[in-house]
Amino acid sequence: MSGPALRQLHSHKAIHEGGLSGAIMKTDELIEYVEQGETEMVQQACDHLLDYWKTRVISHADAEEEGFYKQVMEEKPELERDIIQLTRDHNLMRILVADIESLREEDPTVTPEILQKFNGLIVVNELHSREEERLLFHS
Ligand SMILES: [Fe+2]
Ligand SMILES: [Fe+2]
Repeated sequence: MSGPALRQLHSHKAIHEGGLSGAIMKTDELIEYVEQGETEMVQQACDHLLDYWKTRVISHADAEEEGFYKQVMEEKPELERDIIQLTRDHNLMRILVADIESLREEDPTVTPEILQKFNGLIVVNELHSREEERLLFHS
C-alpha cells in the first residue's frame, strides 16, 4: 500500500475496515466447515485465511513500518513510544500467524487451539487499528 493512502485517515481507516471484515468473514467460513466436518474444505479455508492475514494485514503492517511510521517519527518524534507500541501489536500478529503455521506443520488438523489463535488475531487487529487511528491521526 502506498504512502499517501496511509497518511489520510479516511483511506487508512477504509483499509483497516476492509481487512478486518474480510478476516471475520473468512474465519466464520472456516468455523462453519469445521462444524460440518468437511475436512477438505477446512484445509482449503484455513490455508486461504492464513494467506489472507499475510497478504492483507501483515503486509499492511510491513508497509507502515517501512514508510508511514518512519515519516510520522520524523515529523513528530514525541510519538516514538506510541510507534514502538503499535509495532509490538504488529509483532503479536506476526507471532500468531507463525504459531498457527507451525501448529499446522506438526499436524494439519484445524484444532480449537488454532481457531482460538485466529480469533486472537481478529481481536489484536481490531484494537491495534483503533489505537493506530487514535494515536497517529488525532494528536
Ligand atoms: Fe498498523
Ligand atoms: Fe494501519
